[in-house]
Amino acid sequence: MKINLANIKKAKNLLNKSECVAIPTETVYGLAGNAYSDSACRKIFKLKKRPKNNPLIIHYYDLKKVREDCSLNDNFSKLYKKFCPGPITFILNLKKNSKISEIATNENTSLAVRFPKHPVTRKLLKELKFPIAAPSANISSRVSAVTSTDVKDDFGNKIKYILEGGKSSIGIESTIIDLRKKPKILRLGGLEIKTIQKILRKKISYNINPSKISAPGQSKTHYSPGIPIRLNVKEIRKDEAYLLIKKKKINKVNYYFLSKKGNLKEAAKNLYSTLRKIKKNNYKSIAVSKIPNKGLGKTINDRLMRASKFNV
Ligand code: TXA
Ligand code: MG
Repeated sequence: MKINLANIKKAKNLLNKSECVAIPTETVYGLAGNAYSDSACRKIFKLKKRPKNNPLIIHYYDLKKVREDCSLNDNFSKLYKKFCPGPITFILNLKKNSKISEIATNENTSLAVRFPKHPVTRKLLKELKFPIAAPSANISSRVSAVTSTDVKDDFGNKIKYILEGGKSSIGIESTIIDLRKKPKILRLGGLEIKTIQKILRKKISYNINPSKISAPGQSKTHYSPGIPIRLNVKEIRKDEAYLLIKKKKINKVNYYFLSKKGNLKEAAKNLYSTLRKIKKNNYKSIAVSKIPNKGLGKTINDRLMRASKFNV
């Protein structure tokens, strides 16, 4: 993708003034602000209508500034080397003298750290003197945004600027791994657990609904398109939109396909945009056919399961 330097400059100027801008990442768009600035972080919470106790992910260009904020460890080094920049977020111990705003961390002793791969946002991060706090650019508990149009649909002109970066290539959020003690997955995401296990050479635990919720992305209800969703449906009801993993021979107007041939990467990339499209087309509910529970299918099923529990 060609990088427009004037756009980067505009985003940079606003961020320098503690304003919020939306940024593209390879997973989903983020709503960004200066992570050192209390006022910028407050604006993010307000715009997203995000509960104050839900801390913000911090995005870095490379290891230099992370070292000032967090204690790094061996598991981190192994995963960083292999997967960064990329769709993985690390929970690390926060250093006492870190400059990250306490509004962003909600005064926690840990920090969520990510190194996004999208070239536009990497260029922006390289130019800035601070890391950026950037939760997904959607209204809290709703479907994430994978294009600048999605961001506009959610926030109108409440956001000062949206940095254009095309459609997110992965289309589903990063995998979150807690590395403070024994590695533990907190959120399924764009990087498969299997791939992470290969690098750490051990099995990593994942508790789908832990009794103590440490990442609200794990809460039972999340990622909702704003209309009811039914899962594993073989026969749809009249007027429902039908979401299918691959193209069928019979093609009806209310059938929506996540991929041509059942490719799970392609399906993940199309998931949020298809849910948004169905809502825009005024369907009142969505029936989802069975999606294979392997590879990225696990992440897709995780999101759909949580979206189906949302009380709309
Ligand atoms: O792919 C992504 O991760 C995207 C892009 C924009 O980077 N960001 C994203 O942010 O999905 P958000 O805020 O929607 O989800 C981040 C999750 C939240 O569920 C939050 O609770 C959790 O990370 N989180 C943040 N700080 C944490 C911490 N210190 N410990 C545990 N979980 C944390
Ligand atoms: Mg989110």
